[in-house]
Amino acid sequence: MTAPATTRTIAPRIAPSILSADFARLGEEVARLEAAGADWVHVDVMDGHFVPNLTIGPPVVKALRRQTRLPLDVHIMIAAPDRLAEAFCDAGADYLTFHAEASPDPVRTAEAIRRCGTRPGIAIKPRTPIDGLDDAIGACDLVLVMTVEPGFGGQAFMADQVAKVEAAWRRAGGRAEIEVDGGLDDSTVVPCARAGANAVVAGTYVFRAKDMKAAIEALRRGVVANHPSLRGS
Ligand code: DX5
Ligand code: ZN
Repeated sequence: MTAPATTRTIAPRIAPSILSADFARLGEEVARLEAAGADWVHVDVMDGHFVPNLTIGPPVVKALRRQTRLPLDVHIMIAAPDRLAEAFCDAGADYLTFHAEASPDPVRTAEAIRRCGTRPGIAIKPRTPIDGLDDAIGACDLVLVMTVEPGFGGQAFMADQVAKVEAAWRRAGGRAEIEVDGGLDDSTVVPCARAGANAVVAGTYVFRAKDMKAAIEALRRGVVANHPSLRGS
């Protein structure tokens, strides 16, 4: 089945990253997220090459798929996305976001993902300009603006990436989810939402919170109160 590229209703999407979860209890951690009101489960895939860290692959995504009804928002920080994209789609990814820097032809990568019935997303590292990515953005259902250098959780939010969030929002024109990832909490979400981000990834903030539900609600409030299309709704 091919997922259609449509103009979408903009909604807040709070996507906790399981990079900060207890990997020995992933099933329980995902159930905890679901009970706490998460919209998506963000899955960080790292290959030890594109980024200097190594995490999980398609078998874990497949196991998670059986564990939750929440959409799986899979972020692949890997050097050759074309080689493994289909395996992640088959494993049950709902969104599959690859890096612009890693694909020789991002439009082709996005189309291949869509042909598998998965929604394609494109991720942009902090030092990568957004110029030149219009066609790729047009081929995707999600644009992920990294607000830290990818590789590790728990890093400080890079405020200088907010201008790129706004550029992504303008270019996507409501046709794609605009997602931010890295160093997000109840205060850093505010400038991102003002700039047009509706999807928020957060690892440390959600998993280290005393009250996970309250942390997710705070992120959602940050989006709803500040996003140009949601404010006052
Ligand atoms: C970084 C990952 C992020 C990270 C976010 O490479 O893509 O998803 O886990 O973690 P925090 O919220 O701790 O910055
Ligand atoms: Zn991520």
